[in-house]
Amino acid sequence: MKKRLVCIGVLLSFMISCLLVTGAFAAKDTIVLDASFGKVTFDHKKHSETLKIDCLKCHHTWKAGETSGKKCTECHKATAEGKTPSLKDAFHQTCKGCHDELKKASKPAGPTGCTQCHVKGK
Ligand code: HEC
Ligand code: HEC
Ligand code: HEC
Ligand code: HEC
Repeated sequence: MKKRLVCIGVLLSFMISCLLVTGAFAAKDTIVLDASFGKVTFDHKKHSETLKIDCLKCHHTWKAGETSGKKCTECHKATAEGKTPSLKDAFHQTCKGCHDELKKASKPAGPTGCTQCHVKGK
């Protein structure tokens, strides 16, 4: 009986650590955004941890200190709805917008060309 409980304990902690390692409780390191124009590979970890961009700069509807919440696509749809810009405009303004600004200021920036972000195929 005791042996069995230990076994279950070991199994459970193994399963929990697997979940933690695969990041089921946090943002994935890299997120592939599947746009019809071509997939965009977004290094979430680099932007949030290495570049230290404020979470709220992108997750603008979360409250300060919140580490999870609604995704962009839950509100921003293919076409604009009322005051809510389309998914394309929301992402381009956020992503390309920052890269454009940094480039203008001659600082290290991310890509600004369409096919530098969007990769066709696969
Ligand atoms: C440069 C923009 C940007 C920054 C900065 C950013 N995120 Fe994200 N994050 C995104 C995008 C884009 C997604 C993709 C999912 C979506 O549509 O919302 C995402 C997804 C997530 C998810 C969903 C998990 C998943 O794997 O789908 C979590 C949790 C998250 N971010 C937390 C954070 C936290 C916490 C911070 C700050 C430490 C942060 N993010 C900073 C853009 C950003
Ligand atoms: C809970 C719904 C919701 C979520 C989640 C959300 N947005 Fe928005 N977003 C809105 C609404 C509503 C507006 C228009 C009103 C405003 O500016 O707040 C907006 C406006 C914007 C704008 C235009 C801001 C401006 O100054 O004109 C950008 C850019 C944007 N969102 C990007 C994003 C990105 C990127 C994500 C995900 C990381 C995201 N949004 C998640 C609802 C949302
Ligand atoms: C507030 C500024 C800012 C925002 C917002 C931002 N980026 Fe970046 N991004 C950068 C900077 C700075 C670099 C370059 C870092 C370097 O050269 O080491 C970068 C690099 C990149 C790269 C090049 C590969 C890499 O990881 O270095 C890609 C692709 C990219 N960003 C995509 C995105 C996408 C997609 C979004 C929106 C979801 C986004 N970025 C939002 C500042 C930003
Ligand atoms: C900084 C990276 C970046 C650059 C540069 C960029 N895009 Fe995007 N684009 C995105 C992201 C991220 C999305 C949202 C992806 C999603 O979740 O569907 C998007 C969405 C789109 C969409 C709508 C979504 C779809 O399914 O097709 C189109 C069309 C598009 N981009 C075309 C372009 C064109 C044309 C250019 C050049 C003028 C361009 N993009 C430049 C990152 C970028």
